[in-house]
Amino acid sequence: MSLAIDDAVGLARAAAAPQRYGRVASVVGLGVDVVGLDCAIGDVVTIGDPTAGSGTVDAEVVAASLTGLRCMPYAHLSGIQAGAPVRAHGGPLLVPVGPGLLGRVLDGVGRPIDGRGPLTDVAWVSLDNTPPPALERTRITEPLQLGVRVMDTLTTVGRGQRMGLFAGSGVGKSSLLSMIARGTDAAVSVIALVGERGREVRDFLEDDLGAEGLARSIVVVSTSDEPALLRLRAAFVATRIAEAFRDGGADVMLMMDSLTRVAMAQREIGLSVGEPPATRGYPPSTFSLLAQLLERAGTGARGSVTGMYTVLVDGDDHNEPVADAARSILDGHVVLDRKLAVAGHFPSIDPLASISRVASRVTTREQAAVAAVLRRTLAARKAAQDLIDVGAYARGSNPLVDAALNHEAGITAFLQQRMDEQTPFDDAWNRLAHLTTSMGVS
Ligand SMILES: Nc1ncnc2c1ncn2[C@@H]1O[C@H](COP(=O)(O)OP(=O)(O)OP(=O)(O)O)[C@@H](O)[C@H]1O
Ligand SMILES: [Mg+2]
Repeated sequence: MSLAIDDAVGLARAAAAPQRYGRVASVVGLGVDVVGLDCAIGDVVTIGDPTAGSGTVDAEVVAASLTGLRCMPYAHLSGIQAGAPVRAHGGPLLVPVGPGLLGRVLDGVGRPIDGRGPLTDVAWVSLDNTPPPALERTRITEPLQLGVRVMDTLTTVGRGQRMGLFAGSGVGKSSLLSMIARGTDAAVSVIALVGERGREVRDFLEDDLGAEGLARSIVVVSTSDEPALLRLRAAFVATRIAEAFRDGGADVMLMMDSLTRVAMAQREIGLSVGEPPATRGYPPSTFSLLAQLLERAGTGARGSVTGMYTVLVDGDDHNEPVADAARSILDGHVVLDRKLAVAGHFPSIDPLASISRVASRVTTREQAAVAAVLRRTLAARKAAQDLIDVGAYARGSNPLVDAALNHEAGITAFLQQRMDEQTPFDDAWNRLAHLTTSMGVS
């Protein structure tokens, strides 16, 4: 009861507080300069007069000086004039969290865009959150089923691990993510689609994810045509939603497609507020932002957020700065190979180039042994591939290569997987154990 009175007093106080207004000094490029307002970085403001009919735009303070604020909008700036009023909300963005979000599709600042009415059964929390302290985080000891055989066995992912999916464009990143969304045994999946083409979003929701996948997912979307700040925020909103489920004790799968586009959004913002470009035009803030974002996934005191981040590697340049930074922060990477995709081998994962840094902690000794046999067989075959191609490989010279050739069909059938096919974790290991036993190598 007393809580209700406190709430009522709080609401009355907020309603009675003076509204603070400033003015638009100029609109230049992507940003708006505002004078006459006292705000902190990250605070939300509304630009425009709601009674004037020209519409309002919400924006966020991204830089501050004694002479004024620089704000970046969450929507396009058409209709905004110099001199327009600017109202401070008095704090940063609030994000909806909670079970009412399951099955919903949100925009980059957490507003529903699926036409299914307002959000219900949600709480509103501040976008900012600090990652759990390093020593309070439980260690990663349990595997998480992805439902994709080659990943579950050769790059086993632990609950609370952060993995990168590295690939060039059109090699199958998004398709692999949707396979994981449907096949994982995580209680909740939060999927951030950042900087995707608008056309792809419906395809992803309706064909790839499907009604059954969506029912235990939350999708946060910001397409490539939306303002940079909205694209950037989509990544943090999805992360905040995942953290809230984790803090409730759930094992959450957080998927982000793509981390590169998040970095590109930060590049646009950083350059437009006058930061110097450093590596390949990315201002230094990009790399600290990536670290901040990725550090928020992981285990908590209870529950976990397992992160899957796609990273675009342009023209197979694996030293691209975003890929390089991501690889150094993440706990493992899966490399998708264009040659495999072109040959119709899906998922186009190159197991020999992929590694999970926690695999040894989340698999049994027997599982690790059979995975090692398959890896050794694939590696031996790869080393001998040139000889095989020219017909110069003599059977009998290497038992591993012989096994690879004799059981080629079985190995391929294990590694390839249709998009609509999900394999439970134990079944994947049983199949692999069967395969390696039949190969007769150790
Ligand atoms: N498991 C699969 N089975 C069959 N085809 C697949 C599979 N995965 C991907 N593909 C094919 O590869 C194409 C590209 O896949 P996808 O859109 O996932 O790539 P991407 O890496 O996300 O591309 P982009 O960089 O453009 O976002 C798909 O249109 C599909 O035809
Ligand atoms: Mg894609």
